[in-house]
Amino acid sequence: MADIKPVRKAVFPVAGLGTRFLPATKSVPKEMLTIVDKPVIQYAVEEARAAGIEHFVFVTGRNKAVIEDHFDIQVELEHTLRQRGKQDALDLLASSLPLAGQTSFTRQQSPLGLGHAVWCARDIIGDEPFALLLPDMVMQDRKGCLSSMVELYNETGGNIIATEEVAWEETHKYGVVETGNNVEGGFEITNMVEKPEPGSAPSNLFINGRYILQPEIFDILSGHEKGAGGEIQITDAMIKLAKSQKFYGFRFAGRTFDCGSREGFITANVAIAMTQEDLNGNLRVELKRILAEVLPEQDYQIAG
Ligand code: UTP
Repeated sequence: MADIKPVRKAVFPVAGLGTRFLPATKSVPKEMLTIVDKPVIQYAVEEARAAGIEHFVFVTGRNKAVIEDHFDIQVELEHTLRQRGKQDALDLLASSLPLAGQTSFTRQQSPLGLGHAVWCARDIIGDEPFALLLPDMVMQDRKGCLSSMVELYNETGGNIIATEEVAWEETHKYGVVETGNNVEGGFEITNMVEKPEPGSAPSNLFINGRYILQPEIFDILSGHEKGAGGEIQITDAMIKLAKSQKFYGFRFAGRTFDCGSREGFITANVAIAMTQEDLNGNLRVELKRILAEVLPEQDYQIAG
């Protein structure tokens, strides 16, 4: 369709306090905790880059300057690596670096909620559609979730939300969508419910942290309306936007790890390490040993 504007920019909200990881997050942002050998934030940036994103907008807060440093050249380190002939390490650093001018950093002065963090990016995004990636949600799939969403968007336009199946009894913990007609590569969203009462969820598809949104969302967010937990919520703004614009759902078939929780973070470390040839052999042995020590015999047989 000729009037569909391309998605060129992505917003990464990284201003949350990360209280679930205290004391680690007292001085280290949770987005800089590592999964195997990369900080959490890098997984989302790589996913966005693979989807064709050209400009990376980080909404940061106090104590987050190290994120800006991570996406910049480290002159002394690179000089030392060059002197020592460590070309592999230099190539690795270069491969994770956005080009000069491709990043923007803005501050959310108070952590008033995810919706407020997104609103802080309004001037940098301007009047065009944008991707929103919650970096805590680390995704494992051969094809990146956002790449598939951009393909769907290029057919449908409008707004796209990535969703993923969850056990019905878990739906009350998440934002959940109601599904309408199928479209090529996705489905129409007819409603969204934030943390539905047990037994009342319209589907078992939860909103997993990847969005493509139209800039009109900023007009709604500028109302600064507080929702659940006294925070300005992105889901509330999307529900309002859905009254005048189309929303489509994408069913992500890979796996998402919620690395904002300790359990998800540790699981992601193990799962991603197990995909790496230099680690998975010894790690398999170690994991078996640990399980044998902590699990009763019959459970270990199941786990093994
Ligand atoms: P969370 O709900 O995980 O909150 O935010 P949090 O403060 O980061 O972590 P906890 O709950 O205290 O452990 C979800 C996403 O929204 C961002 C976070 O950085 C994270 O990417 N966020 C949240 C903001 O940028 N600003 C906010 O005011 C709130």
